[in-house]
Amino acid sequence: MCGIVAYFGKKAAQPILLEGLKRLEYRGYDSAGVALLKDNQFEIYKTSGRIANLEEILPEVDQQTTIGIGHTRWATHGEPNTINAHPHVDYTGKIVLVHNGIIENYGTLKKWLIKEGCQFKSDTDTEVLANLIGYFYARSQNRNGDAAPKGCDRFEWAVQQALNEIYGTYGLAILCLDCPGVMIGAKKGSPLMLGIGKNEYVFASDASAIIEHTSQAIYLSDNEMVCVSNEGFTTKTITNKTVEKELKEIEISLDQIELEGFDHYMQKEIAEQPEALRTCLNGRIDVKNGRVILGGIQNMLRDLTRTKRVILTACGTAWHAGIVGEFLFEQLARIPCEVEYASEFRYRNPIVEEGTLVIAISQSGETADTLAAIEQAKERGATVLGVVNVVGSTIARTTDAGVYLRIGPEIGVASTKAFTAQVAVLTMLAIELGRRRHLSADAAQGLLKELMGIPNKIEKILDQNDAIKAIAQANMNKENWLFLGRGFNYPVALEGALKLKEISYIHAEGLPAAEMKHGPIALITDYMPAVFIATKCSQYEKIIGNIQEVRARGGRTIVIATEGDEDIKPHADHLITVPDTMEELQPLLTVVPLQMLAYHAAVLRGHDVDKPRNLAKSVTVE
Ligand code: M6R
Repeated sequence: MCGIVAYFGKKAAQPILLEGLKRLEYRGYDSAGVALLKDNQFEIYKTSGRIANLEEILPEVDQQTTIGIGHTRWATHGEPNTINAHPHVDYTGKIVLVHNGIIENYGTLKKWLIKEGCQFKSDTDTEVLANLIGYFYARSQNRNGDAAPKGCDRFEWAVQQALNEIYGTYGLAILCLDCPGVMIGAKKGSPLMLGIGKNEYVFASDASAIIEHTSQAIYLSDNEMVCVSNEGFTTKTITNKTVEKELKEIEISLDQIELEGFDHYMQKEIAEQPEALRTCLNGRIDVKNGRVILGGIQNMLRDLTRTKRVILTACGTAWHAGIVGEFLFEQLARIPCEVEYASEFRYRNPIVEEGTLVIAISQSGETADTLAAIEQAKERGATVLGVVNVVGSTIARTTDAGVYLRIGPEIGVASTKAFTAQVAVLTMLAIELGRRRHLSADAAQGLLKELMGIPNKIEKILDQNDAIKAIAQANMNKENWLFLGRGFNYPVALEGALKLKEISYIHAEGLPAAEMKHGPIALITDYMPAVFIATKCSQYEKIIGNIQEVRARGGRTIVIATEGDEDIKPHADHLITVPDTMEELQPLLTVVPLQMLAYHAAVLRGHDVDKPRNLAKSVTVE
């Protein structure tokens, strides 16, 4: 939530900041702003709404203005108006900063700073931090009466004093008028990386805002800061201990973050699924021997085989993938497994006995609740694995080991290709653990062979685009939908409902189909769309019964069925087919038409599917 970008170099800063903000806009789009350091003054431009609004108020580019910071906001404290937009300047006018995160003790600090004579203009927690840094900088003394160092070290010192007083999370880029040759970045809980080019530096929340300028970067860890100057950069902790950071190669490419002819990132990412899954599976599957090779955890597998219980923890779509994972671990590895919302797990007093393996699933690798659940599990002695997409993300670095999705950046706020890849990784893991326990080579070979064929089968579903669009068109005006599935397709029903509601703003509920008769069936009215996932599986006959119950009450059925299933036709007002596959692998196929249905419904209703209202891509706040 919130994206920050900052430029320090020899080129004009303004276009670089603007382009970076456009790339980061998926992280939040309530308001935006930049601060440029020009003629020893801060020039600040900010506005509510999208980056396009900011672009309209920016001045002509000045080639001599080569330092600046920018921000795109997902509002937490204070409404998304211009005053609350970042950057925020402190009460002395010397410090300016952009912030991604939350200052939890901002209330107490604000009261104290007001008593000390600081004035505030906004309702944000961020302005408290700007004022706190400004306060220590102006006073040149900390609360213990220790004096500040001289020169620009004082700026660095003031940042450290302030950061040591706050509770919460931050990714920051900070400038000080007295030190025009210095820019400081700092991180705790929210992502921040520094791209290092030739005589230029770019701070950003993620690599998409950096890759155009350089492919070399350092990823900051929590409680670390970087001071950039014309002489180079230094990395230290906020308690002033020097830290060495390894220079890493950014793994994404520019074309991966371009629309490349698609109308929306979500549309592109749905279409990318066959290729994304091929990359995810590539080199990891040995069909001949019925084995899986997962580099990141290979040397732990012997220990993992002794796992007594698996807890999968995640949020949103990743949580739905986790439920599929639960069924896979039970079915294939015969390990007791449960799925926890990270936001609940973190605040409970969970029982984590010896032999518990916790698997955190996250596309972004930055989700605050998932991170907190990991901390909770680690404190209790569990081994924690990550199933993460973003390389070098906080979750990837916080877990004991993990498996990357390898699907390239997912930019659309509605998660699509990450879901299928998360399920694919969990399938591989369950098969390998199963093999090391009691899954036969024959069974594993069959599953792995079929898994390798999934990308081609997804292509066949994508070919039905026009038919799925027509179904969306016929039903898009209905304000309440149900999504129903059983067994492995029950989590897919949850995911289908989430996709539809988050981008089309249609109310949708996902349920295990058999639960209908315990209450939700009361919702059925004439022409209410009920999406049934009724592929050929062990519960096929049962779900046909559930379809009849809905039709008998006037509901309209959109049925996802197996190709060639003639018997299902009389039960479907609208029919979408998917190729046949093994029951355990069906979610990888059945979710795709639901993603497409949601996409088309949202576009037809005139929504910006990549930036749905009130949402942001990575949820780095609680
Ligand atoms: O980055 P993560 O996978 O940890 O994100 C988890 C959820 O915030 C995310 O899946 C969210 O539910 C999506 N908007 C769903 O499309």
